[in-house]
Amino acid sequence: MKKSTIYSTQEAEDILFQLYNIKGKAFELPGEIDFNFRIKTESHDDYILKISRPNENKNYLDFQQQLLQHIEKNEEKIVAPKVIKNFDNESISSITDDAENIIFVRLLTWIPGRLWSQVNPQLDNLRFSLGEQCGLLTNALQTFDHKEAHRKFAWDTAQSLWTKEHLHLFEVDEQIILLSFQQEFELSLSDYDKLRKGVVHNDANDNNIVVSTELINPKVKACIDYGDAVYTQIINDVAITCAYAIMHHNDPLDAALSIVKGYHESFPLLEEELKHLYNCIAMRLVISVTKSAINKFKEPNNEYLLISEKPAWEVLKKWHQISSDFAHYSFRVACGFPAHPDTEKFNNWALKNIFKVSDLFPNASSDDFHHIDLSVSSTWIGHEKEFNDLDLFQFKIDRLQTKHANKVIAGGYLEPRPIYTSTAYDKVGNNGRESRTIHLGIDFWFHANTPVHALFDGEVVTACNDAGDKEYGGLVILKHCVENFEFFTLYGHNTVESAKKHQLGDIIKKGDKIAELGNYPENGNWAPHLHFQIMMSMLDYEVDFPGVAYFKQLNVWEGLCPDPNLLFKSDALKSSNTSTNDELITYRKQHLGKSLSLQYKTPIKMVRGAGVYLMDQFAQKYLDTVNNVAHVGHEHFRVVKAGQDQMALLNTNSRYLHDNINALAKELIETLPPELNVLHFVNSGSEANELAIRMAKVYSGEKDFIVSEFGYHGNTNLCVDISSYKFDGKGGKGAPEYTHIFPIPNTFRGKYRGENTADNYAKEVQHCIDNIKSKKRNVAAFIIEPIISCGGQVELPEGFLSKAYSMVRKAGGVCISDEVQTGCGRMGKTFWGFQLHDVVPDIVTIGKPLGNGHPVAAVACTQKVADAFANGMEYFNTFGGNPVSCAIASEVLRTVKTEQLQQNALEVGEFLKAELKKLSKKFPIIGDVRGQGLFLGIELVDDSLNPLASQTDYLSNRMKDHGILMSIDGPDHNVLKIKPPIVFSKENAKELLFYLRKILTEDFMTTY
Ligand SMILES: Cc1ncc(COP(=O)(O)O)c(C=O)c1O
Repeated sequence: MKKSTIYSTQEAEDILFQLYNIKGKAFELPGEIDFNFRIKTESHDDYILKISRPNENKNYLDFQQQLLQHIEKNEEKIVAPKVIKNFDNESISSITDDAENIIFVRLLTWIPGRLWSQVNPQLDNLRFSLGEQCGLLTNALQTFDHKEAHRKFAWDTAQSLWTKEHLHLFEVDEQIILLSFQQEFELSLSDYDKLRKGVVHNDANDNNIVVSTELINPKVKACIDYGDAVYTQIINDVAITCAYAIMHHNDPLDAALSIVKGYHESFPLLEEELKHLYNCIAMRLVISVTKSAINKFKEPNNEYLLISEKPAWEVLKKWHQISSDFAHYSFRVACGFPAHPDTEKFNNWALKNIFKVSDLFPNASSDDFHHIDLSVSSTWIGHEKEFNDLDLFQFKIDRLQTKHANKVIAGGYLEPRPIYTSTAYDKVGNNGRESRTIHLGIDFWFHANTPVHALFDGEVVTACNDAGDKEYGGLVILKHCVENFEFFTLYGHNTVESAKKHQLGDIIKKGDKIAELGNYPENGNWAPHLHFQIMMSMLDYEVDFPGVAYFKQLNVWEGLCPDPNLLFKSDALKSSNTSTNDELITYRKQHLGKSLSLQYKTPIKMVRGAGVYLMDQFAQKYLDTVNNVAHVGHEHFRVVKAGQDQMALLNTNSRYLHDNINALAKELIETLPPELNVLHFVNSGSEANELAIRMAKVYSGEKDFIVSEFGYHGNTNLCVDISSYKFDGKGGKGAPEYTHIFPIPNTFRGKYRGENTADNYAKEVQHCIDNIKSKKRNVAAFIIEPIISCGGQVELPEGFLSKAYSMVRKAGGVCISDEVQTGCGRMGKTFWGFQLHDVVPDIVTIGKPLGNGHPVAAVACTQKVADAFANGMEYFNTFGGNPVSCAIASEVLRTVKTEQLQQNALEVGEFLKAELKKLSKKFPIIGDVRGQGLFLGIELVDDSLNPLASQTDYLSNRMKDHGILMSIDGPDHNVLKIKPPIVFSKENAKELLFYLRKILTEDFMTTY
């Protein structure tokens, strides 16, 4: 074979046959050093043919071949390319090119799968399996060595200080970052040199990792390309594996943890190695950006070089922001070590010594505690409006103190709290919004000016005014050295004067006064208390230290900030345990109705609502796009208050006169057409429809109902009988004799589409009427929602409803509009859904939104219908129309008005719908976007309009992973419903769109 540098696929095929007697088709692959060809044979054995450049170092190739053979021989669990030998049983073949250069050829087996860079999303499980595979490889290579592994090599992190000579290639701000890592590396060299060494892969980058082909939960199968293998510190391999796989993440440290965990699982890492990991990751990135800068200098017009260096710089800059100590402690926890190397020493020391709270507060009346619960599920703290009212808060504390006069009110260690409502407590992590909620100290509730004294000797390391809302105000931090370790104690929320009177370095003796408690606002705007926290490290903080942590990092912070109750040893301070989700699920399964369902593959426990958010027991916030019951926002204060106030006075039935029932009737009548001016109050949507059915039967003297396919109207006997969604669904027995279904008037995937759909569907209603008449009976009623919700947010075609109404009325039936989902301003353009269609029903049923979560519902009807229904039989409803429910419902309706929420539903709904439509252009999986106001639906289909239920389910679950709740409906389970509380803002809509856009690009959503 005579050729100088470039080989055609034909030449590759010839070489293959000549050397290996294998016939195959060659496909060119990119290769930095070798010329690589993928070979496909008829027997489906795939290979990779590697043709070296002229005069390649044979020892270097021999190193790689021997390494692969070593793996094949020693480690069954590892998938790696296998070496195929030539005719002469050699693993490296030699040929000469036209310039008489020796060219080496190797043949390896091909590993099927896809490259890491092609996988979306790359989640924790995948990163764990990456770490696991790399760890397995390192383990297998423990017994392998080769002379070439000990070569001089720029990509060996241990040799990375060569990068210092190229600092001049960078801007000043970049130089600062690079230099800080280089200096840190240099400083650590004496310890670093002593770390375990071995031959490692040393290059697990995006294009060297093969991942399995499953679209959900794929795993790393193998590492390929062993050209960078080298004998070096093993931690360098962990670092390299992290350095690439943490790119493109908001929180690279979080992304690194699962890799480290996986690596540790198959190759246990040592504590002394983890100390260097943060900086080794940085140094790999330093090498990478320096290499790019050198190449860029050589080839200034090569755009590819610019593109490839960008993610490395992005992650390097983020990495630089992360405290190296915090990263170190996080890695330790990922590997099952205590977060801080001295945590255990502290625990043992605390166990041996006794401290009294009266040492800390000489004013304390005793050393006993009363535990105060400020957790997210605490009913004591009440509503956000209440806990933010500091006078009220203080009043409640005083009452508590009076009740527990001989006790110190305290608590809060690791408590998930909802009270940190300032945005300074939020960030966007790798999976959406995250809030700091986990309280790291103990709060002691004493009055302002209470003196705080030292429990042990210490040195002042912070004495400042940490000014600002929800900050510490007067803050003192002391450093303590005991036995052979040190720790810190933090005293927050003091008067500024008492905190600032210390100088850094001042020595405080046990019993000395440290500070005096401050009052709001100078103490950071809290009711007076001391935040007392223990820290094993100051991390990089000097004038502040987090007192509240992200839930995701709980395990690290817990080790870093030990429980202050280790000092006081009070049982009372141990927070009460609530049930775990597993316990709740087990009990539910045994003792709650078996047909109750749970949302999501991993169910969530919700304990608090606030506006458009729900919070779980860890105070993690979820954006709620599902709950049209919490109409004016979860736990709207005025609505809550209206209920609480009336409950304190009276709740009884409607047989007594009461203003509330009349007031609610007036509020509702104001919103309805004049014809609909009689009300009955009930307790649920089902009850409302149940009553409507009875009214229709009495009014018409008939029993036959005309209903839409896939309609749902409630859970009672009669309601199920008119709900095709139920009787045609699982466990159903089809339509009863007196129920007549017409096809769902869906213009997107229904029986009739395109032109004349309204007429065609109206004809189907007429067909039902004719059918009833053919049985010598007549129509009792026609019932439909203005937008069919369970049917998949199906909007009725224009003109359909008026046509159907006149047909039904002509036949003597009444027209019922089920507004249980659509009513009370949600439609935006109109207050009620039927108003979109220019019709006036005879009966309107109202449910979900009316009580904002409280069970109250109503039936509005005409005088004629009401008169007919009042045939002598009393309608008594024990709870319907009770003063509490009526107070709540009236407040809901007033809130819609005063906060102009119908207008908000219109504006935000139209914005969202328009943006969703734009999204559907980009992602054809979105076949249809429909609905009105804040009652929208997105239908997922393939090119032939087949429903994509699995993709819809995936999307909803992935949105939940990002803290956004969405529900699915429609007969084919392929419609995502969007029906949030109507306080949903444009910002909320933008957040929803952002994550929809993100998840729509994921592999499972694009492969169908
Ligand atoms: C359109 C419609 N009508 C009636 C009901 C029944 O209401 P409830 O669950 O309050 O009994 C529902 C409930 O989802 C509904 O969606």
